[in-house]
Amino acid sequence: MRIAVYPGTFDPVTNGHLDILTRAVKLFDKVIIAVAYDNNKDTLFSLEERKQLLESEVKEYNNVEVRTFSGLTVNFARQCGAVALIRGLRAMTDFEYEFQLALMNKKLAPDIETVFLMTKSDYSFISSSAIKWAASLNGSVTEFVPLNVEKALYAKYKKSL
Ligand code: COA
Repeated sequence: MRIAVYPGTFDPVTNGHLDILTRAVKLFDKVIIAVAYDNNKDTLFSLEERKQLLESEVKEYNNVEVRTFSGLTVNFARQCGAVALIRGLRAMTDFEYEFQLALMNKKLAPDIETVFLMTKSDYSFISSSAIKWAASLNGSVTEFVPLNVEKALYAKYKKSL
């Protein structure tokens, strides 16, 4: 059983994240989405809300699980028995940060590989922050997030769809 962990803040999950997930499930027997509790980001959604939004989007997969974690990602991955971490690469600007993170993780856990998947070009420019910014100003984010997430965003910002 080849397990991969797909870690992130997911504040909130976007179509870009789901695109990466769709491809990761074809490569591994099981993918565990790991929602990070403490990674120095002020989040709009609580840990439980981020987990629930993800869960409602992955119901169709029987080999995907959503879990929360705190502490080092590689320690969580080890607990899960994972052989790999999945990361999405959107643009060259992601590369330096991701390269550093992957090398650090490799030092901490030489037995776990980081697998990078290229984000679909339609989503290569989006980020959770940009989506939150647009939604907070009543901009349409329909193209970039699932309907559930869009509703949750507008509820947070007290706007209507
Ligand atoms: N499509 C659209 N957007 C994407 C994307 C995709 N495919 N992939 C990433 N993004 C965006 C996210 O929306 C997010 O946007 P934001 O910064 O505006 O919120 C940004 O890219 C990066 O987010 P994410 O992938 O969630 O990574 P992160 O940098 O927030 O967190 C962790 C990454 C959780 C893996 C990392 O912080 C971590 O491992 N933390 C635990 C401690 C640890 O082990 N540290 C490393 C060793 S010291």
